[in-house]
Amino acid sequence: MNILQKKDIYSVVKISDTKLQKSLTTFDLTMLGIGAIIGTGIFVLTGTGALKAGPGLMFAFILAALACLFAALCYAEFASMVPIAGSAYTYTTIGEIFAFIIGWDLALEYMLGVSTVSVGWSGYFQSFLAGFGIHIPAKLTAAPGLMTTGHVEGVFNLPAFLIVMLITFLIAMGIKETKRVNNIMVIVKIAVVVLFICVAIFYVKPDNLAPVLPYGFSGVFTAAATVFFAFIGFDAVSSSTEETINPAKTMPKGIIISLAICTVLYVIVSLIMTGVVPFKMFSHYEDHPVSAVLKYSGQNWISGIIDIGAILGMTTVMLVMLYGQTRVTYAMSKDGLMPGIFSKVSSKTDTPFISTWIFGLISALLGGFVSIETLSEMVNIGTLSAFILVAIAIIVLRKKSPDLERKFKCPAVPIIPIAAVIFCLFLILNLNPVTWVRFGIWLFIGLVVYFTYSQKRSTIKNKTS
Ligand code: ALA
Repeated sequence: MNILQKKDIYSVVKISDTKLQKSLTTFDLTMLGIGAIIGTGIFVLTGTGALKAGPGLMFAFILAALACLFAALCYAEFASMVPIAGSAYTYTTIGEIFAFIIGWDLALEYMLGVSTVSVGWSGYFQSFLAGFGIHIPAKLTAAPGLMTTGHVEGVFNLPAFLIVMLITFLIAMGIKETKRVNNIMVIVKIAVVVLFICVAIFYVKPDNLAPVLPYGFSGVFTAAATVFFAFIGFDAVSSSTEETINPAKTMPKGIIISLAICTVLYVIVSLIMTGVVPFKMFSHYEDHPVSAVLKYSGQNWISGIIDIGAILGMTTVMLVMLYGQTRVTYAMSKDGLMPGIFSKVSSKTDTPFISTWIFGLISALLGGFVSIETLSEMVNIGTLSAFILVAIAIIVLRKKSPDLERKFKCPAVPIIPIAAVIFCLFLILNLNPVTWVRFGIWLFIGLVVYFTYSQKRSTIKNKTS
């Protein structure tokens, strides 16, 4: 059996005839992108990032944005070439085993992404309740081994667990976030970020910004590997190609504009945050650093508004991610690479009901038991690896299928895809070595599943023969 068995890209392109309505414009895609992008990265991981890089945090955001920009150009070429749903998994026309590994990596991005965001959500939810004098028992506010704000050791992060269960219920019942709800949420998110900027800027003390690089460039690099998380989500845009008007032009524009808007907001927010609060103090504010900066400045009311915006904003990110997870596994299951249960659609709800509950429950438990730092590093390494494979696939396909219609071409191939590979590898190298080991174990399990199960049941060869 040939593990390099591949979907013939021409057949993938042909079978992509779709009955879905084409209604999304560049504006809609940009909103979709921002909806999926702004979340725990900016609302929570900025605190962790500031501890690593000091005021140099803004450079960390720029570095991570560059890695995403190069990867985004590769994604955009694929999206304009293979206009079908299923995220990067369906792009993998360079071989079955690569498709499997991308799908396996994407599980880290989406499934653990939900868990990561749930922990961030929990921090803001607690801050919001505290504003009304309500406190959840400290033991139930953090993962085991972590010190809670009440100075006791956590046992379980109950709010994180419960919010994922609620999201799972909504998705299993087939409640897809509508374009209108998404657009409202995006406006709320951008509004709270802009509100933060407009208020907090008056409290910046230039003294806090010096020295800019207290830990040198190495601090910036490790912070970049952390805050990379803040950009994850733009790839979700590419899975809406089927519903997009003129995807060839619209898709790359949508991806790039949403990335650009988020980068500008992130750089300004991180500059202001480290300007208002001496960066070392973020060790006390790691759960909800953005609203904490305003509390520090005595702006309790505005801080409460930011809490609400962050809570709503992070909820939509979890919806998109859990939905994405079920969609990727659905595609893998259809190809025989994962058990049929993952593509079993309930006739009542019209959704992959069982699959949604399986992933929802795993995400919820991980959110309850694991720290945000561990979770986000795993998400980052999984996503960065998927980006690397997608960039390599661009180069391979230009050689193997040069005459295939590419309505959008990634500029300067192979330089841009190679730059994507180098930047992503660099960020991986700046993650904690424990994360590399955990990722190695995850990949190993994946390969065992592939060789003992998927390879034998794959229907990909039948499709392409
Ligand atoms: N970029 C998304 C977030 O920060 C995943 O929550």
